Amino acid sequence: IKCIGVLTSGGDSPGMNAAIRSVTRAAIFNGIRVKAIYRGYKGLITNEITEFQTQNVSNIIQQGGTILKSARCAEFRTPEGRKTAYENMKAAEIDALVVIGGDGTFTGARIFAQEYNVPIVGLPGTIDNDLYGTDSTIGYDTALNTIIEAVDKIRDTATSHERLFFIEVMGRDAGFLALNSALASGAEAAIIPERETQEDQLEELIKNGFRKSKNSSIVIVAESEITGGANALAELMHKEHPEYDVRVTILGHIQRGGSPTAHDRIIASRMGVAAIDALLDEQRSIMIGIVNDEIVHVPFTKAIKDDKPVDETLLGVLSILSI
Ligand code: F6P
Repeated sequence: IKCIGVLTSGGDSPGMNAAIRSVTRAAIFNGIRVKAIYRGYKGLITNEITEFQTQNVSNIIQQGGTILKSARCAEFRTPEGRKTAYENMKAAEIDALVVIGGDGTFTGARIFAQEYNVPIVGLPGTIDNDLYGTDSTIGYDTALNTIIEAVDKIRDTATSHERLFFIEVMGRDAGFLALNSALASGAEAAIIPERETQEDQLEELIKNGFRKSKNSSIVIVAESEITGGANALAELMHKEHPEYDVRVTILGHIQRGGSPTAHDRIIASRMGVAAIDALLDEQRSIMIGIVNDEIVHVPFTKAIKDDKPVDETLLGVLSILSI
């Protein structure tokens, strides 16, 4: 391998810049040229490709977002789109790709790698933490910290007014952010898509005497069709228990921004170096993960399987701690 391309794709996450920096510098350290591809797979199709030197990634480790921009690209899902992408890649003398993103990114990578025999290594960049084969994805820790900072603030006003808040957090179809932010912010409960139906979870909460003498209550709700989201739950609560003064906050894209935490910078840096090592070792179609603090290689097909388990025993911990 003489030249790699690097891109970020899908929803951005804090720490993607640290990953770009690491991939770029580790490649150059190993005598490999680096081509930066802008706007994910879209830039591969529209030929937005620039050579990077080490200084192109200076002073970005602390920045949120991605200097390479990101996009979700419908055209890359078509054979014609991928053909153009491959032609541009070859014209730019790129022999291998490092793609930073989530399951959509790896799904595209897997098909492209198979179709054109391209070595591709992925880095898990998503706040959702929903990729199998890594304890943590790049951006997840920062998003968790952003959430608890917001929840702490909401707790102040919730307490003053003795209100019940439903706070909706991101996660697409996974409850990692909801469950762990609930634990870290001392929330009374978390409603996650991995568990039963929203009505059951709400019923269970009420049955268990949730609220009791508390002067404020916070329920973290994972966004998803399964939970129905915070608004739906608040409506339900209002209907069944009009005595509660209910409010809703949807945290939204605030969760995707901000300077990455030390944890996210560190895993991004380690994973970037590991991606170049893996390519030099002729590995392909794998995601770099970290499990029990060790670098692991996870085939794309496994990483994107939709069944990374949340630790449901944490719901028990949450309910013990909110008596
Ligand atoms: O995958 C990251 C994520 O932030 C999800 O948590 C969320 O469901 C989705 O992306 C939002 O996507 P968009 O930024 O396109 O609205």
